[in-house]
Amino acid sequence: MTISEEQRAREAELVERVLASFDGTSDARLRQIMRSLVTHLHGFLREVRLTEQEWKQGIDFLTAVGRITDDRRQEFILLSDTLGASMQTIAMNNEAYADSTEATVFGPFFVEDSPAIPLGGDLAGGATGQPCWVSGTVRDTAGHPVAGARIEVWEADEDGFYDVQYGDDRTAGRGHLVSDADGAFRFWAVTPTPYPIPHDGPVGAMLAATGRSPMRASHLHFMVTAAGLRTLVTHIFVRGDDLLDADSVFGVKDSLVMDFTEQSADTPAPDGRDLGGRTWSRVHFDIVLAPTGSDEDVVND
Ligand SMILES: [Fe+2]
Repeated sequence: MTISEEQRAREAELVERVLASFDGTSDARLRQIMRSLVTHLHGFLREVRLTEQEWKQGIDFLTAVGRITDDRRQEFILLSDTLGASMQTIAMNNEAYADSTEATVFGPFFVEDSPAIPLGGDLAGGATGQPCWVSGTVRDTAGHPVAGARIEVWEADEDGFYDVQYGDDRTAGRGHLVSDADGAFRFWAVTPTPYPIPHDGPVGAMLAATGRSPMRASHLHFMVTAAGLRTLVTHIFVRGDDLLDADSVFGVKDSLVMDFTEQSADTPAPDGRDLGGRTWSRVHFDIVLAPTGSDEDVVND
């Protein structure tokens, strides 16, 4: 499409007028954000030569995202996640520091006040799935063990649902524990399995229209906090999972892909637990926390 010089000038003049409307913004950061937003928004509109019909479709889409959002469903975060905006924000705000463990998306399924699990305990709490023995250590970037780190863990069951999605007030597949004097931790969970993000709303429609899958690669969520150290929000992923390259929220990082090794039913459990003749798996995850102030602390919703 050829655009006349006069037309280009009109469009550019409008952008300048909108930018100038923020000249009186006393908050310099707000002014910067609004000016950049307008610059990129108009750049986008002009690049794709958005039609009025498409503008209306965009308004209807955002309206639907707002309408389906409530206390239990956050479609805007889902939209941010599926456009990679959440992951980009996390990457920028959790810059690599020495060998500290990488962060990834928080997701919508964390719950405050999870049950306390003793070291070696089982956080499945009735969540169905193959038993999985998880062990590891928490240390700082100088290699010192971090005792007393609070380790929050949460996950979906083998049917791909978090406890909060059942709507019956159950607590399962989540808990917190505290690292021991050597910075070590160990617990039972269930082997992570893939699940779809909620896709019965406008974000699901966007994924369908663009031929994308709502599936997330199998993962186990962690949030680790310790005094004087940067809070880590991350997951570990299952090596060999077909979805590692197609995670719907772009959360996978190579350094977070772990070996969940399958164990036969007759392999004794590390703590002697009777697994009732079932197969099980085990994974080892060594966590390294960056110092506080090595970056902004992660901000989640
Ligand atoms: Fe998740």
